Amino acid sequence: MKQEKLIKRTNMCGDLRITDVGKEVRLNGWVQRRRNLGTLIFVDLRDKTGITQIVFDEKTPADVALKADSLRSEYTIGVVGKVRERESKNPDLPTGAIEVEASDLLIYSKAETPPIYIKDDDNVDENLRLKYRFLDLRKPHMQRNLAFRSKVTTLARNFFAEEGFTEVETPMLIKPTPEGARDYLVPSRVNPGKFYALPQSPQLFKQLLMVGGTDRYFQIAKCFRDEDLRADRQPEFTQIDFEMSFVAEDDILSVQERFLKRLFKELKGVDIEIPLRRMPWVEAMERFGSDKPDLRFGFELKKLNDALKGCDFAVFRDVIEAGGDVRGVNINGYSDKFSRKDIDKMTDHIKKSFGAKGLAWIRVEEGGAVNSPIAKFFTEDQMAKILAVFDAKPNDLILIVSDKVPQIVFNSLGFLRRDLAGKLGLLDPNRFELLWVVEFPLFEKDLETGELSAMHHPFTCPVLDDVPLLDTDPLKVMSRTYDIVLNGVEMGGGGIRIHDSELQAKMFQVLGISDEDAQRKFGFLLEAFRYGAPPHGGMAYGLDRMVMLLLGEESIREVIAFPKNQAAQCLMSDAPSFADASALQELHITTVEE
Ligand code: AMO
Ligand code: AMP
Repeated sequence: MKQEKLIKRTNMCGDLRITDVGKEVRLNGWVQRRRNLGTLIFVDLRDKTGITQIVFDEKTPADVALKADSLRSEYTIGVVGKVRERESKNPDLPTGAIEVEASDLLIYSKAETPPIYIKDDDNVDENLRLKYRFLDLRKPHMQRNLAFRSKVTTLARNFFAEEGFTEVETPMLIKPTPEGARDYLVPSRVNPGKFYALPQSPQLFKQLLMVGGTDRYFQIAKCFRDEDLRADRQPEFTQIDFEMSFVAEDDILSVQERFLKRLFKELKGVDIEIPLRRMPWVEAMERFGSDKPDLRFGFELKKLNDALKGCDFAVFRDVIEAGGDVRGVNINGYSDKFSRKDIDKMTDHIKKSFGAKGLAWIRVEEGGAVNSPIAKFFTEDQMAKILAVFDAKPNDLILIVSDKVPQIVFNSLGFLRRDLAGKLGLLDPNRFELLWVVEFPLFEKDLETGELSAMHHPFTCPVLDDVPLLDTDPLKVMSRTYDIVLNGVEMGGGGIRIHDSELQAKMFQVLGISDEDAQRKFGFLLEAFRYGAPPHGGMAYGLDRMVMLLLGEESIREVIAFPKNQAAQCLMSDAPSFADASALQELHITTVEE
């Protein structure tokens, strides 16, 4: 085999400056572009740090010039040359004051014409980018994103280590951990008919590490959830996960505030004020219609039940009498930005997505008159009360939703509030509004089936004063939980856990999990609690979301090297794929064709 030659690199392509003029350098990289001007050939040479212009001119040895002429985009090459000052400088390029006059050139490999351009603003279909991810990753912004992500994990590792946390790897082949999504199952060849689950999170194991005396654990952990995908979700994602023993909420939040302060300072140059604001879940819902409020703009929700009690509009009156909610949001100062058609679209959307029955609106005209399809149902006094609740002024647009189920009202208005702010350009990506949302309800009720489920997970500790309500009114029980919210996205969440096997068993009972089922699924945890469990709690950040938000990216796929598409497929490697019959046989699996 031919001996592979290498031009040993002295510098990266983004390094060289005017102060390097006169130096002999050796560079390696990809040909971004080659321009042949007859006696002159220019090559833009690229690596992950940037681009340097290479020149081949009349002084270049003939054999080298000939090779240079054969270069095409994305060839990988090595160059030897001397740094010289450029005649026409390029102020847009950090290396734009210099160029390298080549004396030798080695072509490592040729490249076919790439199916996508290697430039950030190529506007190509994302599926094509994902199929050719190895090319897509060559783009400067992808390399910047990967490097930034690596800085986040390095900073996290250093921070947690300094704070006395032990990094522990928890297993990937486990029994199902309930985080509310479906599990990915892995068949066990040596245990016919049995399956492991891939972890939805390290939750149970980190709790067992606390029982095991680890005291402070952290991990940069891979998690797997088979759920419907969106821009901020992947079937396989990463958490910065940690757990602490002998702590209450304040201890956890204050360590994390120090972490976040350092993260924002060192990686964004932004000073965040700590302690961060803490907002009870109830307040977040009532003011912003969301458990992850975006605080970069106003448009707070207001309740109209009092103002409209006994009004003539049957829809509102009936809802109020049935104990439901009439609430609204004032898109103040922007009525002229939304047409009748826009409002119809909003109405359709909240009907389809959240089960709302309608959307009532009031426009305040110049001079204070109102324009609204429901104005006729209200007395002057009632309308004045509505306007007063919203502190309404000319050019305000008040949007009102009512429903017997408060969640439908919150979901609809919470969505509209942020969606319209986005349409109005009020979501500044360079502003970081962080807060803790605390004290979530312990349970939530499925709107369709009426079944109770744990809002976080079934190991979450109830607020102690509420424990008696577990038997009588479980939906009123609040929990010792906290989510960290950044610009309207849930970046992480956690809580204080139950560390008592009786309370844990009670929790399973309220959730309708039989003793038998609880034993079968989590017997090991219940047993562990019988041998001296410390009070403990923790949380997990979604690393992908964190990096996405810090970089101002719209999708977490931009900060993951090899993400899956919306259908959970890897377009590059074509996973998932069918298994060979022999492999299935060995695993004792038969598949059914649909
Ligand atoms: P939770 O389920 O809230 O909590 O997850 C923690 C954080 O992980 C991120 N996240 C995701 N990111 C990308 N794709 C997904 N499919 C996805 N699902 C979740 C979110 C979320 O805030 N064990 C608990 C934590 C604890 O209580 O300590 C847990 O997993 O940013
Ligand atoms: P209707 O009398 O049904 O034509 O409704 C009059 C207005 O009230 C329309 O703008 C409807 O969209 C709106 N509306 C109907 N039901 C609701 C509801 N539950 N909440 C808010 N607005 C509603």
